Amino acid sequence: MDGNGRWAVNRGLPRIAGHRQGAQVVHDIVATAPAAGVSALTVFAFSTENWKRSADEVGSILHLFVTTVTKWLPDLVTQRVRVRVIGERSSLPPDVRTAVRVIETQTESGDGLHLNVALNYGGRAEIVHAAREFATACAAGRATPESLTESTFESNLWLRGEKSPDIVIRTGGESRVSNFLLWEMAYAEFFFLDVLWPDFTPDALNDVIRMFRKRNRRFGGA
Ligand code: FPP
Repeated sequence: MDGNGRWAVNRGLPRIAGHRQGAQVVHDIVATAPAAGVSALTVFAFSTENWKRSADEVGSILHLFVTTVTKWLPDLVTQRVRVRVIGERSSLPPDVRTAVRVIETQTESGDGLHLNVALNYGGRAEIVHAAREFATACAAGRATPESLTESTFESNLWLRGEKSPDIVIRTGGESRVSNFLLWEMAYAEFFFLDVLWPDFTPDALNDVIRMFRKRNRRFGGA
C-alpha cells in the first residue's frame, strides 16, 4: 500500500492523513473484492523495517489499524470477512496484540473473503520463523529432516492454509518487492502501478484482474 505519505505531503497534510485515507481504500477494496473474484487479500500494513520511522508515525499506523478495523468489525462480520494478522506479534504494543486477538476471534467463522493484514511482517522473518518451528519440532522428536517438504515447510508459515497469491500489486511507482511474501509469491503475477495507494480504486483492481486474465502463466512448463 505504498504512497500514503506522498499523497498527504502533496496536499500539505501530515503523513498520517495519507495512512487514514489508505485505510479507507482498504475498506472499499474489501467491500468490492469478492465481486471481482478475489477470495483472499493480503495487505502490507507495517513491515519489520517500518520501525525506522518516527515513533509518532509508528504509533499512529499501529493504532490506526486497530481503531479502523475495530470500527469496521460489525460490517466485516456481516460481509463474512475473516481477518487474520500475519507477522511477529511479540514486539507489538500489548494493546495492539489484544485488539488483534479480538478482531481475529470475532471474525474467525467468516467464510467469505480472507483478509490477511501483515503487521510487523517481513518475508525473511516469516521464513526464519518457519525454519525455527521446524527445527524445534525436530529437536522435540516430532519431525525429522527427511520429513521436510515444501508443504510441511509451508505449514509453519504465518500465512499457512492460504493458497499462494496469484497477483501482487504494488502501488506508489516503485518496482521492488520490499520483503513481502517472499515464499508465497513464487509464481505470482506482478503489477507495479504508478498510482499512490490512497488513489487506488475498485475500478483499478478490476483493471488489474482483467490484465491478469490475459497473462500466459506457465508455472515453468513449456
Ligand atoms: C506505505 O506508504 C504505507 C504504510 C507503511 C502504512 C499502511 C497502513 C495503513 C493504511 C493502516 C491501516 C491498515 C488497515 C489494514 C486498515 P508510505 O508511508 O511508505 O508512503 P510513501 O512512500 O509515499 O512515503
